[in-house]
Amino acid sequence: MVDVVLPAATVDDAGALSALDVDVWRASYRRILSRALLDGLPQSPFHDPQYFLAVVDRSGMDEWLWVIEAEDALAGYCHFGACKDPGCGYLGEIARLYLRPAIQGQGIGTRILGAAAHRLVDEGLVPIRATVFEDNRRARRLYERLGAEYVGRQVVFEDQGKPVWDCTYGWADPAALLAAASGGVGKDRQGG
Ligand SMILES: CC(C)(COP(=O)(O)OP(=O)(O)OC[C@H]1O[C@@H](n2cnc3c(N)ncnc32)[C@H](O)[C@@H]1OP(=O)(O)O)[C@@H](O)C(=O)NCCC(=O)NCCS
Repeated sequence: MVDVVLPAATVDDAGALSALDVDVWRASYRRILSRALLDGLPQSPFHDPQYFLAVVDRSGMDEWLWVIEAEDALAGYCHFGACKDPGCGYLGEIARLYLRPAIQGQGIGTRILGAAAHRLVDEGLVPIRATVFEDNRRARRLYERLGAEYVGRQVVFEDQGKPVWDCTYGWADPAALLAAASGGVGKDRQGG
C-alpha cells in the first residue's frame, strides 16, 4: 500500500498546487471539457496560485487544504470544510480532491475521502456533500461505492457555448465514508 502523508498546505505550496491542478484537469477531463478551456486553465481565477493562497489564508477553522504526499512527492490535494451554500441543507463539503494520474486507482482517493470525512464529523459538519462533473463517471462511481446518494444536477458554466453539468452527491450518514479511511492515513499525519 502506498504511504500517504497529508500536511496542511502553506503559502509556499500555492504555485505547485496550481500547476498540479492544471495538470490533473488536463489529464483527467479531456473527454469532458474542450481543449480551449483546458488550454486556458492557468489564466483561470479558480486554478491560479492566488486561488490557493486565498484558501490557505482561510484554512484551519472550518476549512482545510491538505497537500497529498505519496512516496515523498507532491501527489495531489484535498480541499474540504464547512459547506459554503448555507441554504442547501449540507453542513460539510468535499470541495476538491485531485490526484496525479500516476497514483490514481490504488485506493488513495478512497482513504483520503475517509480521512476528510473524519475531520468533518469531528467538527460536526454533517451531512456532507460533494459535487462532480456529471460526465466524470469514475468519481461518481467512487462516491456511489462510498454510500453517497445522488441529489441533483446543475449547470456550472458554459464551455464553447455548451452547458457543463455538475451533479451533487450527499452523505446523510457518512458511515461508509468513515470506514473508507482505514488503512494508511493516520490521524497524526494529517494537516492542521
Ligand atoms: C477521483 C479520484 C480522486 C479518485 O481517487 P483514486 O485514488 O483514483 O480512487 P480509488 O483508487 O480509491 O478508487 C477508484 C477506483 O480504483 C479502484 N481501486 C481501489 N483500490 C484499488 C487498488 N488498491 N488497486 C487498484 N484499483 C483500486 C476502485 O475500485 C475504483 O474502481 P472504479 O474506478 O472501477 O470505481 C482520482 O481518480 C482523481 O483525482 N481523478 C481526477 C480528478 C477527479 O475526478 N476528482 C474528483 C472530483 S473533485
